[in-house]
Amino acid sequence: AYVVADPCIKCKYTDCVEVCPVNCFYEGANFLVIHPDECIDCGACEPVCPTKAIFPETELPEQWKEYKALNADLSTKWPNIAEKKSALPEAEEFKSKDGKRSLLDP
Ligand code: SF4
Ligand code: F3S
Repeated sequence: AYVVADPCIKCKYTDCVEVCPVNCFYEGANFLVIHPDECIDCGACEPVCPTKAIFPETELPEQWKEYKALNADLSTKWPNIAEKKSALPEAEEFKSKDGKRSLLDP
């Protein structure tokens, strides 16, 4: 499955949602996750994310390994999102910031 990692936090552009053929994105207050059992590995979401937050799980950068389990867990708790919406107001400011894990709203 594909995994949403750190760069999405406090941005949430949702371009990924618009292209996903199986609607397997789930939405928190300032982050999105992919349900690993629903993702069909089509790869459509990866190139459209303005923050480059999405990776195939096998190519997830070492420092973001924990996001695989986070996507699996949070996707069972958060509501589905099937339509693109506006990015967060602070998205441009946080787009290129690193180490946003502590800012993730549970
Ligand atoms: Fe959806 Fe395809 Fe991205 Fe999986 S890889 S989340 S199926 S767009
Ligand atoms: Fe997040 Fe990128 Fe989607 S910022 S909401 S993973 S388009």
